[in-house]
Amino acid sequence: MISMAKPQIGDDEKRAVMEVLDSGMIAQGPRVKAFEEAFAKMCGTNHAVATTSGTTALHVALLAHGIGKGDEVITSAFTFIASANSILYVGAKPVFVDIDPRTFNLDASKIEKTITKKTKAILPVHLYGLSCDMDPIMKIAKKHGLTVIEDGCQSHGAEYKGRKVGSFGTGAFSFYPTKNITSGEGGMITTNDPVINEKCRVIRQHGMRKRYYHDELGYNFRMTDIHAAIGLAQLKKLERFNAQRQENAKFLSENLKGVTPPFVPEGQTHVFHQYTIRVSGGKRDALRAYLNEHGVGSEVYYPVPIHQQTFYVKDLGYNQSLAETERASQEVLSLPVHPALSSAELETIVAAVNEYMTK
Ligand SMILES: Cc1ncc(COP(=O)(O)O)c(C=O)c1O
Repeated sequence: MISMAKPQIGDDEKRAVMEVLDSGMIAQGPRVKAFEEAFAKMCGTNHAVATTSGTTALHVALLAHGIGKGDEVITSAFTFIASANSILYVGAKPVFVDIDPRTFNLDASKIEKTITKKTKAILPVHLYGLSCDMDPIMKIAKKHGLTVIEDGCQSHGAEYKGRKVGSFGTGAFSFYPTKNITSGEGGMITTNDPVINEKCRVIRQHGMRKRYYHDELGYNFRMTDIHAAIGLAQLKKLERFNAQRQENAKFLSENLKGVTPPFVPEGQTHVFHQYTIRVSGGKRDALRAYLNEHGVGSEVYYPVPIHQQTFYVKDLGYNQSLAETERASQEVLSLPVHPALSSAELETIVAAVNEYMTK
């Protein structure tokens, strides 16, 4: 079976982990610091703060911006559950805005009418490796005095008009093994604001500024040096991995028939965390079954939009309708695009999709 993801762990990562184990300093230490500095440099931000996951990066970022009970945060319902759950963790309410059907990202033109007196932030999710349309989002945020927390968990290194995602507002990234780079598990917050940087560090470490003096409620969301060592080795390969993903995506887009390939707006670089096609005419699930029978893995990200998840409907009372989000959840299908795919595997993917779609 051609798999959807294959973490690229080589000798560099193995050696780096062994060095940490041999050093005796295995919790948060110098590797975490080095990983933070290298990640901030990659993003073009002044600071980066490592955490245990993308989820905790979002959680800490929201807390650091003082978002909490009674506040509303505008985001997408067409994303992984963590984007919205992190808003719930701080006691705030996710307010969902529909997506642009071409990019699958927040439709910026629909944001302003959802702003209320309670709105504190916009949390754009750069889905599948493609940036949201950041110019209008930043303009709306500025006009209404809103914080922007970018969920870049799927978009390490993606650019919008020459600027990396995670550098517009406060960014959050994930290093889960399927991501463009991994640290095993792990997360990173990016910011240019020294105050937010310091707050994130305090929240990550049990609200502690001075050893064993706790001024506020914090958590243990520290990354270990073992994870940071893997992350650092991976970060050096990010550009190469992304270039390979882009090359694989180009081949797929040039050769697939009968499906809508990913759309890349002018001025943006897509880093293809996922290569997601749209299959219309109700054929998506049958195509997926056919691919499965022919040894081609595929996945639906995401079959149930967040506003329709049981917990959000039954416990939180969401009952809105988001036409494009719901249509996308019925039509999207992600195909393998990871950097370890061989030419023969790419050809097998194309042949299987085309056989089904043109028969
Ligand atoms: C868009 C998005 N946000 C948040 C997360 C959460 O990251 P993690 O799994 O590292 O907690 C993910 C990870 O899958 C994600 O894809």
